[in-house]
Amino acid sequence: MRNFIVSFIIFILPALVWAGPVYVGSKVCQECHEFEYKNFMRYAKKARSYERILRLKKGLKRDEFQKCLQCHTTGYGKPGGFVSVEETPDLRYPGCEVCHGPGSKHIKSQSSKDIKNPTLKDCAACHIHERIEAFEYRPMLYGGAH
Ligand code: HEC
Ligand code: HEC
Ligand code: HEC
Ligand code: HEC
Repeated sequence: MRNFIVSFIIFILPALVWAGPVYVGSKVCQECHEFEYKNFMRYAKKARSYERILRLKKGLKRDEFQKCLQCHTTGYGKPGGFVSVEETPDLRYPGCEVCHGPGSKHIKSQSSKDIKNPTLKDCAACHIHERIEAFEYRPMLYGGAH
């Protein structure tokens, strides 16, 4: 119960007060974007990223592991973003919305105005400069996506 109250105050409350779009998870996108979803789940390393950091968790302190979550999950610490595997299983890896932005408005409106077409700037939140330069090569962009 105490855990619930703590996560309510830290994660759920801000999401209720926040009026902007929130994260919904990649699975929600599948209904209308089956092609991108299947390719992403099958080929993108991002889709298996949580399992990779989990393997290293044992050797890390709690706050060290939490740092990993910023880049290896979807929306950690942001409204509607990753909280824990139990509460937000579909946000446990960096999914569609780390590139396209939170999708709650778009899934209702189905308008392209409410979803972002990412540019290389958006990759900088997680990828180092040298790596992003290599992304200039367009197929590589799709290599990390779908
Ligand atoms: C209920 C259906 C539906 C869902 C769910 C949905 N979309 Fe869409 N999406 C659409 C439609 C329809 C379009 C085409 C809009 C247009 O052409 O104006 C679109 C277009 C897009 C585009 C292209 C935008 C552009 O400028 O060309 C992207 C990117 C996108 N969606 C990403 C997502 C992501 C990410 C999710 C999950 C968070 C998602 N969509 C969930 C219906 C949906
Ligand atoms: C929220 C953090 C985050 C953002 C933003 C992000 N990535 Fe990633 N990306 C990752 C992580 C984490 C991995 C490593 C996954 C693993 O190996 O466990 C990765 C892996 C990749 C890979 C590795 C190749 C593969 O097979 O999947 C490519 C390419 C890539 N990202 C491209 C991009 C591009 C292009 C952008 C910007 C449009 C971007 N990423 C934005 C976190 C991010
Ligand atoms: C600033 C963002 C960021 C943080 C913080 C971060 N990572 Fe990553 N990590 C990435 C990106 C981006 C990649 C993919 C590199 C690429 O392919 O370009 C990656 C790749 C990995 C890989 C795959 C390496 C490989 O060779 O396939 C592992 C494992 C990993 N990270 C573990 C961790 C752990 C454990 C932590 C926390 C201690 C952590 N990362 C923190 C961004 C981050
Ligand atoms: C690594 C970043 C990244 C991730 C993750 C990602 N996308 Fe994309 N997506 C892109 C880029 C880049 C484009 C091309 C944008 C452009 O043409 O300017 C794109 C384009 C799209 C389009 C438009 C397709 C078209 O042919 O015009 C849709 C729909 C879409 N993405 C849906 C998704 C869905 C659904 C997911 C998750 C299953 C996802 N994306 C994950 C980067 C990403």
